[in-house]
Amino acid sequence: MASDFMNDPRWYKDAVIYELHVRSFFDATDDGVGDFEGLRQKLPYLESLGVNTLWLLPFLESPLKDDGYDISDYYSVLDMHGTLDDFQHFLDEAHERDMRVITELVLNHTSDQHPWFREARDPQSDKHDWYVWSETTEKYEDVRIIFTDTEHSNWNWDQKAGKYYWHRFFSHQPDLNYDNPAVREKMKEVMFYWFDMGVDGLRLDAVPYLFEREGTNSENLPETIDYVKELRAAVDERYGPGKVLLAEANQWPEETLPYFGAEENGDGQAESTGVQMAFNFPIMPRMYMALRRENRRPLVEMLELTGEIPEDAQWAIFLRNHDELTLEMVTDEERDYMYHEYAADRRFRINVGIRRRLTPLLGGERRRIELMNALLMSLKGSPILYYGDEIGMGDDPFLGDRDGGRTPMQWSPDKNGGFSRAPHHRLFKPPINRGPYSYEFVNVEDAERDEHSLLHFTRRLLALRNQHAQVFGRGTFELVAVENQAVLAFLREYEGKQVLVVANLSRYAQSAHLPAEERLAGLVPVELFGKTSFPPIGREQPIGREREAGERRQGENGEGPERHPEPYHLVLAPHGFYWFALRSEQALIEEAERRRRVQQEEHPGALPMLEVEDGVENLLVPTMARGRGPERFESLLPDYVSKQRWFGSKGTPIERVSVEDAVRLQAEPKTRKSV
Ligand code: BGC
Repeated sequence: MASDFMNDPRWYKDAVIYELHVRSFFDATDDGVGDFEGLRQKLPYLESLGVNTLWLLPFLESPLKDDGYDISDYYSVLDMHGTLDDFQHFLDEAHERDMRVITELVLNHTSDQHPWFREARDPQSDKHDWYVWSETTEKYEDVRIIFTDTEHSNWNWDQKAGKYYWHRFFSHQPDLNYDNPAVREKMKEVMFYWFDMGVDGLRLDAVPYLFEREGTNSENLPETIDYVKELRAAVDERYGPGKVLLAEANQWPEETLPYFGAEENGDGQAESTGVQMAFNFPIMPRMYMALRRENRRPLVEMLELTGEIPEDAQWAIFLRNHDELTLEMVTDEERDYMYHEYAADRRFRINVGIRRRLTPLLGGERRRIELMNALLMSLKGSPILYYGDEIGMGDDPFLGDRDGGRTPMQWSPDKNGGFSRAPHHRLFKPPINRGPYSYEFVNVEDAERDEHSLLHFTRRLLALRNQHAQVFGRGTFELVAVENQAVLAFLREYEGKQVLVVANLSRYAQSAHLPAEERLAGLVPVELFGKTSFPPIGREQPIGREREAGERRQGENGEGPERHPEPYHLVLAPHGFYWFALRSEQALIEEAERRRRVQQEEHPGALPMLEVEDGVENLLVPTMARGRGPERFESLLPDYVSKQRWFGSKGTPIERVSVEDAVRLQAEPKTRKSV
């Protein structure tokens, strides 16, 4: 039976996405290129990692001059990856394993090798108007160039047509003409083809640039937004809810939000009529900025600006992807700062961004990597992991364009990093085999064996995220105003369940006070990794006159002294973070009681069971944390003692038994899990 995730049309809210290249992942046919069969074989690995959605980079027919974003046939799989049947086989198996699959819809342009363009070069052909032509280059002059390192103009001369054609990306990628209704219909057909085949989502590549209008920058034009809405309406009509469109709009917040097409529904709630998902580009570079500045401000600003999206919509958030870490949507000053801090070595700069993977960007520092991942998994949106980042893969500065971060997945320390059995010279890209990120040191096999590896950390993080999927995926997001600017704190809440995240952006230990708030007073923060209860968020003891007045009141009407909520003090290790479930003390006691009862029912007469994850010593030593010291042990004793033969008043209820002293009998006491 399919899981809730597979049955829920809003699955994308609970998605934890893994982005990968089929040709870089695993080569099952030993020809030097990754393929669908290889990917299918690695599904158990992905499942055990804890991701539930796969986003595949382009795998269709293409001359591969832009790594597959230059498509020459929208309907056939590039044969180095296998056949369409292999794709279908992979897709079915992913679904059987309760995983969703997102693929690419490259709408804006085709390859110049696409038969449409070849035909279009003849001005007399039907297809001519499928692309954007001009006699001169003095058109759309307000439009920026995106690939600044390689392109000098958005126009390129075509000898055969005797005209210039328009391209927003490489000159071998002519833009389709969306003013032509036949193009708009054709792309809808392509979309249906892949959705019919069973894919769950389509990423709308480079969507802001579909239309051109004189006198504008030709980005995010109303016509473009309208076409996106047209696609959505067509999807809803053909499939009903559940098929998802994901917008790749690398834009400022106010320009990204229209892609959701928020409209008020009958219940007064905003609902999407455009895409259900969009990448949150604005917060990504700010996460790095906040980390480097050790100050949350740059991030907070963007979190606020991207806070309001329709009820059924979702951000897709990421730290790294297959492209450069884009710095297009930051101020000039911020860009300089980012280049200086993260790409002092100029080889890593490309276009308007930085071509590095996550681990080298963060200097290989484990604490910073963990912190950034913890933020990725807890901020608002569905997180995306870029393949290989879960084991800390590096990049190759000697490969051109953005290929340095698209090298083969490192599976083992064996030949070709376990990616392929083909001779090294047959590999479509060399795996990293030099320096600290070489597959000799960084690979899945070794990481599996080392319980302290980044891979195991990532698994634990994802497992926790998945345990609290709804709070993180669907919950409200609220910043908590901590005075210390190096600390970012926020509260996620869904249907009464609350998770508090506190993160230290600084490389030094920090102290932070959560502000005193009535709604938090009395709650117990339970740290999610270790399930350790912290002292409850308190109320201050009234002192002096206030206390006297309170006592008087108590005497008169039994109400007692008024107690105000107290600020809550936390100490954070360098780059440390906490994920706390906020639970009421009562709920925790009831839970423990329930567990005890179940155990008694299942094993009547057995010794009561007490879980001691944090060490048996803490059972006998009073600690600051209420409910973690002897009181847990003591709570079991009255019942137990009263039933013992040796107890004089056997059967008489006992109110309380307390631990007066504890004596260590052995240096390493042999303890059983029961008392
Ligand atoms: C993709 C790039 C690609 C470009 C042109 C982008 O949005 O992510 O990798 O080069 O589109 O297709």
